[in-house]
Amino acid sequence: MPELAYQSGFGNQFATEAVPGALPQGRNSPQRAPLGLYAELISGSAFTAPRHSNQRTWVYRRQPSVVTGAYAPYAQPHWVTGAAAGQVAPPDPMRWHPIAIPDAPVDFIDGLRTIVVNGDPDAQTGMAAHLALMNRSMDGRALVNADSEMLVLPQLGRLRFVTELGVLEAQPGEVVLLPRGIAFRVLVDGPSRAYVCENHGAPFRLPELGPIGSNGLANPRDFLAPVAAYEARQDAPCEIIRRYGGALWRSTQPRTPFDVVAWHGNLTPVKYDTAKFMVIGSISFDHPDPSIFTVLTSPTDTPGTANCDFVIFPPRWMVGEDTFRPPWYHRNVMSEFMGLVHGQYDAKPEGFKPGGMSLHNCMVPHGPDAEAFDKASHAALAPHKLDHTLAFMFESRWRFKPTAFALGCGALDARYADCWQGLQDNFKP
Ligand SMILES: [Fe+2]
Repeated sequence: MPELAYQSGFGNQFATEAVPGALPQGRNSPQRAPLGLYAELISGSAFTAPRHSNQRTWVYRRQPSVVTGAYAPYAQPHWVTGAAAGQVAPPDPMRWHPIAIPDAPVDFIDGLRTIVVNGDPDAQTGMAAHLALMNRSMDGRALVNADSEMLVLPQLGRLRFVTELGVLEAQPGEVVLLPRGIAFRVLVDGPSRAYVCENHGAPFRLPELGPIGSNGLANPRDFLAPVAAYEARQDAPCEIIRRYGGALWRSTQPRTPFDVVAWHGNLTPVKYDTAKFMVIGSISFDHPDPSIFTVLTSPTDTPGTANCDFVIFPPRWMVGEDTFRPPWYHRNVMSEFMGLVHGQYDAKPEGFKPGGMSLHNCMVPHGPDAEAFDKASHAALAPHKLDHTLAFMFESRWRFKPTAFALGCGALDARYADCWQGLQDNFKP
């Protein structure tokens, strides 16, 4: 299969055409669009949003997306959103072992298993964290999520995303951001697992850099947008699954939704390789706040208090002198949902497995387990590289509620809190 082509940048005004001459020049909606195409505008922000946060893309396609069948409810009981769909969250720290991929055929839609929820998609606030457990591609179907943008982190297996705006591919270590309302299909090579953040709030953007300056963390040019691509075969029927108002709906249309021949604008799927994240850390002493690892943020009206921060803990050097190097013990007013793509997480070297998850909600105390505390308290503080590791966190101002599936699936680690029981009172007055 030929290498995919991409355009580089985050939030750029991209322009791309799969057939030369398909993009109109000098105007967006000429009396007759080139090559007999239809012009269609997709708005990712209110028309009057400030220029720096205004998002829209013009697409030029063989048929406008309004040509579709009627919708009927579609049953997928494991995909739920909104705090009302969750269970009461206990004040305990919680952790899940990796959840196995089912033997029964499941694609990205049917294999979605919601783990935690908060907020309300109708109020455009909060998020949900899911696992996508997949063993087959979304052949002959497409998903349109009108409630949320989706951030997908492959954990096992390489994923190919066919979208209205082109094709992207991602393997573990890379992430894909799919804007609200853009049709897409996920193709797999074999059994695959991914973490998914469904963000009902403000679209993810790059965080402010403050005194860091104009470079660092996730650099804009390392985000890759697809180039225009359309499916040659137009006549195959396609099932459209639409996430709408916290429910799923199904319709069949006689043609593919992937018929965009050219587009321009700044509302587009992107992918990002976390290996390109420029990590900032202490070069003197103390473990800094994890906000230095923020890749993307979904802000709220309260400055600095995110609907969701997407944070990664990638390979990095530890050089702090007279410093307890792992994360400190803490209680956080924000709520923290974590996963591990591969390797070991320094605060929980053993119990937190790749593919697993943890939840430390608002003001739930947590920190290194007894073994990690003991080791870090006595380690020689030579420069040391944490390598072959990638943990991540979705941090939200809204408390997460676990779902009935998460509590009942058998993967909940009932003995998680035991990992701190060995911490002794070492006080020597
Ligand atoms: Fe934490």
